[in-house]
Amino acid sequence: MRLPGTMRVNHLGHLEIGGCDTVELARQFGTPLYVLDEALIRRQCRKYREAFVRHGLRGEVIYAGKALLNKAVCRIIAQEGLSLDVVSGGELYTAIAAGFPPERIYFHGNNKSEEELRQGLDCGVHRFVVDSLYELHLLNNLAAEAGKVAGVYLRITPGVEAHTHTYIRTGQRDSKFGFDLVGSVALEATKQALALPHINLVGFHCHIGSQIFDVESFKVATEVMLDFAASVWRETGFALRELDLGGGMGIRHVASDRPLEPEQFVAALADAVRTGVRRHGLPEPKILIEPGRSIVGEAGTTLYTVGAIKDVPGIRTYVAVDGGMYENPRVALYQAEYTAVVANRVHAPADRVVSVAGKCCESGDMLIWDLRVPELQPGDVLAMLSTGAYTYSMAGNYNRMPRPAMVLVREGQADLIVRRETYADLVRYDVLPERLAAPEHLADQRAIE
Ligand code: LLP
Repeated sequence: MRLPGTMRVNHLGHLEIGGCDTVELARQFGTPLYVLDEALIRRQCRKYREAFVRHGLRGEVIYAGKALLNKAVCRIIAQEGLSLDVVSGGELYTAIAAGFPPERIYFHGNNKSEEELRQGLDCGVHRFVVDSLYELHLLNNLAAEAGKVAGVYLRITPGVEAHTHTYIRTGQRDSKFGFDLVGSVALEATKQALALPHINLVGFHCHIGSQIFDVESFKVATEVMLDFAASVWRETGFALRELDLGGGMGIRHVASDRPLEPEQFVAALADAVRTGVRRHGLPEPKILIEPGRSIVGEAGTTLYTVGAIKDVPGIRTYVAVDGGMYENPRVALYQAEYTAVVANRVHAPADRVVSVAGKCCESGDMLIWDLRVPELQPGDVLAMLSTGAYTYSMAGNYNRMPRPAMVLVREGQADLIVRRETYADLVRYDVLPERLAAPEHLADQRAIE
């Protein structure tokens, strides 16, 4: 199996990431544990930026923070010269708390609240990606109150279907996101934006889906967006200055996945942009892309400890680990596929097939179906690969499970970047009203029994 990033097998036969023995990490930090390969994140950032330079594309690479966000990740992204896409007040707060420069922040979201818009104006985010007329007018009013002019992209629904899981398609017409091209909805929104004094319309945005492997859907979306920009130009005289083409580049979760290299993706975009602007005689806009998964996905590994093993003769063997859907809901939610290795003996012959189960109280809480492994025993450390994106960011406390810790590894050094939740954290937001706190209540309970 191809191991991503700095992963290798050391002299003990243990899986190593960033020069750190994962068996040792499991012992030191406990499991489940998210391990992040810093060098691989940086490499992906650089690949995108270098591809822009190589293809002479004027523009920016914006990391989509929804894939994975915490203060340390913000710092790495900032150091690598990427911008940041945030979709909520919470993501924006995290970025600012990490010292991320606001002039490199892009604020997305289909229903930003008044409070979130104010927060964005106050800290001076670079662009608001506006999703509805309601938001457009609200932002104009709030910017007027603040004595500011907001830099805006309109999010357009280009009607391009990316070949990916249907739940995560966002570009098709039937979508809660953005302005529809059909029926002049987008054109009308553009005219309104141009007329509002506290809105500075700079460009358009689209996003066609996630975990996409082919360049074709991106090329078609680019073409559609430039056709739209040309019609806007003819109708209103507004010349598009910036075009944000979203994220969605796939990664390798299992051996059969064939992701695009950033270079191939950017080359195809550059080609589509140039063809489009030439056809319409438009000036070439600044191009922005928003990769999330392809920056952090393969850099993440989740370490688990094997617990109960249940053999159902003639059917399957369930190997339960100490994590599950609460810390990686992707399998239950999208039937996502992953692979894993036994971190404490990577090279042992994988001569059986098991299914890896989580520890939440439902049958759907599975992590991997039909994984080839050597014989497993309780206490073995299982390393699930390519879990960096949309796991921690989508994790919760189902069954009152404390969320795992995260460590950043690099050249033999492992640093805690998210501490493990404790049971005390779990009850931190619980409030006992006075009438339930009184001891008589406990007596009532006994009376019923
Ligand atoms: N930009 C916009 C506007 C987006 O909505 C997204 C993802 C991205 C960029 C980044 O896409 P990426 O490069 O990471 O594919 N929870 C799902 C994925 C949802 C993606 C939502 N939007 C999953 O776990 O597969």
